[in-house]
Amino acid sequence: MKAAILPFLLLLACSAYGGHYYNADGTPHDPYHDLHLPHYPPLYPTYAAVPRTGFSCEQREWGYHADEATGCQVFHLCQGHLVSSHICTNGTLFHPQFKVCDNFYNVRCGVPLEDL
Ligand SMILES: *[C@@H]1O[C@H](CO)[C@@H](O)[C@H](O)[C@H]1NC(C)=O
Repeated sequence: MKAAILPFLLLLACSAYGGHYYNADGTPHDPYHDLHLPHYPPLYPTYAAVPRTGFSCEQREWGYHADEATGCQVFHLCQGHLVSSHICTNGTLFHPQFKVCDNFYNVRCGVPLEDL
């Protein structure tokens, strides 16, 4: 009888925590925190300079555009036929809504704005 009750109580206890996880030392585990820890290889692209990609300003609005071929670390300013290319510092990516380099975990490269 006891053996049948224990798994049930465990299940009840686990479901009460509703998707929260704990570290080995009992402190709450925050997956977001993991993004701030060093990873190898890094979780973001690490270009040293603007690479040559297939990016073109043709058929694009004037203004800033993230270069998805670089994982959005590189962005281009299109002014008609004039293109100027720029690179975000490591750990940041070009955020298409705010038009700034933002922390990589705040940017979903290649996802249309309306889907964010
Ligand atoms: C990013 O990091 C890589 C590897 O450490 C380095 O070679 C590169 O210069 C850095 N890029 C920028 C834009 O600082």
